[in-house]
This record gives sequence, structure tokens and C-alpha cells, in this order.
Amino acid sequence: MALRTRITERLGIEHPIVQGGMMNVGYAELASAVSNAGGLGIITALTQPSPQALRDEIERTKAMTTKPFGVNMTIFPTVNSPDYKAYAQAIIDGGITIVETAGTQAVREIWEMLRPHGVTILHKCTAVRHALSAEKAGCDIISIDGFECAGHPGEDDIPGLILIPAAADKVKIPMLASGGFGDGRGLAAALALGADGINMGTRFCATEEAPIHDKVKQAYLDNDERGSLLIFRAFKNTARVGRSAVSQEVVRRLSKPDAVFDDVRELVSGVAGKELLQTGDLSKGVFWAGMVQGLIHDIPTCHELINRIVADAESIIRKRLYDMIV
Ligand SMILES: Cc1cc2nc3c(=O)[nH]c(=O)nc-3n(C[C@H](O)[C@H](O)[C@H](O)COP(=O)(O)O)c2cc1C
Repeated sequence: MALRTRITERLGIEHPIVQGGMMNVGYAELASAVSNAGGLGIITALTQPSPQALRDEIERTKAMTTKPFGVNMTIFPTVNSPDYKAYAQAIIDGGITIVETAGTQAVREIWEMLRPHGVTILHKCTAVRHALSAEKAGCDIISIDGFECAGHPGEDDIPGLILIPAAADKVKIPMLASGGFGDGRGLAAALALGADGINMGTRFCATEEAPIHDKVKQAYLDNDERGSLLIFRAFKNTARVGRSAVSQEVVRRLSKPDAVFDDVRELVSGVAGKELLQTGDLSKGVFWAGMVQGLIHDIPTCHELINRIVADAESIIRKRLYDMIV
């Protein structure tokens, strides 16, 4: 048995489950494991230090799976912007046919580069109005990220229970529900709310194949649904990270009325975050994590996780919900 949706059809995958782009986690090991399990694995372009390194990572992923996989390209305003177009060229040269984008409107220049090469554009956004604008601008699939999500939930604070059906009412192209998904109940609910599949980040970090330290995986298990914090609210660049002594210190420092980014720079740097993921030393920095931590209780393989999610969703739809109808 399988669940067939517009997402499985459009992406040529077995199950309607996508692994979202994840900085310093989305390497070939994880992406290929998700794709081999019938979902869509995604490697993260900017995790690679150069466009050439991305070319190599694409080849490494191809050697590990014959199934479809994608590349994430996230564009946020930074002090030293990478050469996004050179990364996009590496994606084209690598023959990639699915790209997940996220971030500012600048991603649209990247779409213009990718589209003539037949690339399917999956765009992640956090508001219905942004989804409609991306649809109008020609993207192929929307991934709508609710307030629960790890990473950047936007500034509207609308949870998935409202955001997903509100988007489904208006968006015509296939849509993934993202933020807060981790089990079969979530998949069944997302489909009921009008999505065509789910996108997961945090849940895939707690799998055997996720290339991060066991102590970080344990932190995802130890944290419950209250185990994330919002930082950078005052800068209108809200980010959801795992609750830890460091993230609590970031919140404390930024709660002062005259706080500036420099007050926390060393605590939140990308270099520190990467070191944390590799060493498992949670005192090094902050780590991205969503509210779904409250639903994570084990560290399965991606194959076990995806099969379990799909089997549970099927049984909820076929049995639990069906049996309620009298
Ligand atoms: C460790 C980690 C790193 C992430 N890095 C990125 C990133 O570089 N670009 C991006 O668009 N989203 C990033 N995300 C967000 C995910 O792609 C996804 O949208 C989000 O995790 C969904 O919410 P969930 O964690 O509740 O499943 C990251 C998430 C995690 C957990």
C-alpha cells in the first residue's frame, strides 16, 4: 500500500515525505537515505564551502542513490553573501531536477537560471500571501512552514492548523505542509488539511543517518514540545532554536531594550553552530530545532521512520477515521 498524491506524482517519489534543506546536516548521507527510503532527500547547497564542493557533493549523492533527490538553496541577507549564482550553476551542471528554495525575493533570480533547465522549483514560505506570490511568479510546488517549525517561522506566528488549510484554500499548485511533522498522525492530518505531503526537518535530525553528533540527537529526544525558543524577534528575523543554556542566554541578552546583534554574535555564529553539531558540545552555540521535539522518542533509520509514518497514516485514514463514520 502507498499514498499517492500530487507530490508523489510530481516528484516521482514513493511516499509524500520530503526532507527539508538543513544547513550542516543536509549532506549526501542523509539525503540519499531519505531518497532510498522512498521520500525526497535534499542536500543543502550552502553547507558546501564552494560551488565546486557542491558539484562533488551532488556526485557523491548520485553514487549513494539512484532515486530522485534535490538541492536546497537558501538566500538570507548576510554580511558576506556567497556567490549564489555560482552555486546555482553547480546545481545545473550536476543535472539536478528538483530545487528547494527559501528566503528573500532574491531567490527568484535563481529560479530564472534554473527553470530553462527543466528544474522543478519547490519554494518554502511562511505566509499565504507569500505562497500566492511565489505561485504567481511560476514556482511549481509550495512548502508552507507553520509557526512550529525549526529555522525561520516568519513574523506572523500562524500555526499549521490554520496556515495549512488557509493556504490550501488559495494555492492551486501542489503543496507540502511543513513545521511540526514527525509521525503518521501528522501526515494524515496534513493530507486532511489540504496538503499533498509533508516536509520535515527536526525529525530527520534524530535518525541514524543524520550526520550529526549523537549528543545532539539525544538533545532532540530530551527536549519536549516546550524545548525550543524564539530568538531575533526584535530584528524581524525570528528563528526557532533548541532550548539550551546558550539559547536561553541569547534570549536574556536580547531582551534588553537597547540590545544589538553584536551582543550575541559569538553565541549564534554559523561556525559555532557547525562545531556544536560535529562535537555534540551544546555549549558551543545554538542548534535549529522545532516544537516537534515533543514527538521524537527514538532514533530510527530513515527507512524505518518513513515506513512507520506512512503505515500509521494509512491505518489512521483506513481504520481509525473510517470506523468513526456511522
Ligand atoms: C538543523 C536544521 C537546519 C536547517 N537549515 C535550513 C536551511 O539551511 N535552509 C532552510 O530553508 N531551512 C532550514 N531548516 C528548516 C527545515 O528545512 C524545515 O523547513 C523545518 O525544519 C520544518 O520544521 P520541523 O523542524 O518542525 O520539521 C533547518 C532545520 C533544521 C532542523
